[in-house]
Amino acid sequence: MSIQKQARRLTAPDIFARKGGEPIVMLTSYHAHTASLVDQHCDVILVGDSLGMVMHGFESTIPVTVEMMILQGHAVMRGSSHSLVVIDMPFGSYEGSKEQAFASAARILKETGCGAVKLEGGKRMAETIAFLVERGVPVMAHVGLTPQSINVIGSFKAQGREEADWQRIEQDTIAVAEAGAFSVVIEAVAEPLARKLTASVAIPTIGIGASVACDGQVLVLEDMLGLTPRVPKFVKRYGDLGPGIEKAVADYAAEVRSRAFPGPEHVYAMKAK
Ligand code: KIV
Repeated sequence: MSIQKQARRLTAPDIFARKGGEPIVMLTSYHAHTASLVDQHCDVILVGDSLGMVMHGFESTIPVTVEMMILQGHAVMRGSSHSLVVIDMPFGSYEGSKEQAFASAARILKETGCGAVKLEGGKRMAETIAFLVERGVPVMAHVGLTPQSINVIGSFKAQGREEADWQRIEQDTIAVAEAGAFSVVIEAVAEPLARKLTASVAIPTIGIGASVACDGQVLVLEDMLGLTPRVPKFVKRYGDLGPGIEKAVADYAAEVRSRAFPGPEHVYAMKAK
């Protein structure tokens, strides 16, 4: 009897160890099927709270709940076997207190089996990050543009355009690294700042709209596939699936309407042979 060794899933320490090394490839996924497609090419799959906008059509990520994240997190865990799966802590599930954050994070880890959580915020979340990490919760931080703050910042605009803002974003990045985050997403900051941040911390920086000067990159899968109508300017489209899907649906509808659709009769005809 041969014993096949199952490939081990990547862990938060594996990703931490990639600082300054081979760039980290990260994409979002919310479903088992897309997770199985991206798994072999990615190091990290993020079950992002962007699912609120991408899957559910909300205007922002604010309405997303822990239950929604757990449901889609389960699906992504079932569809993947190689990548580290990181699940976003949604707005309102962690900011109240360190204890609230731990209860939410523990629920997400226990109920999905994922390898880490992500939360937004720099200096203000440092104490919470340390509390979680000390209690066995690997944390990916998220600084720069933090979409859950939309009602305070007013729009999804790039951060750190003025050099005067750099210090704050740098302090945020250093604070989450010192608190024990194993990596940090840096969203929508200009290249010189991204380069400075990447040089300032010993944890990998993962950029989204933050130039090549990061240790890795993340994109929202549907954005890079051309499946979302409103895409941030920095997103490069690697596919244009929207029109392809529309054409397939139109072809199907036309066949059904003209009674040319090869439905079960086709299968029965084959069986009868
Ligand atoms: O929710 C999400 O998809 C994210 C990425 C944009 C990094 O946080």
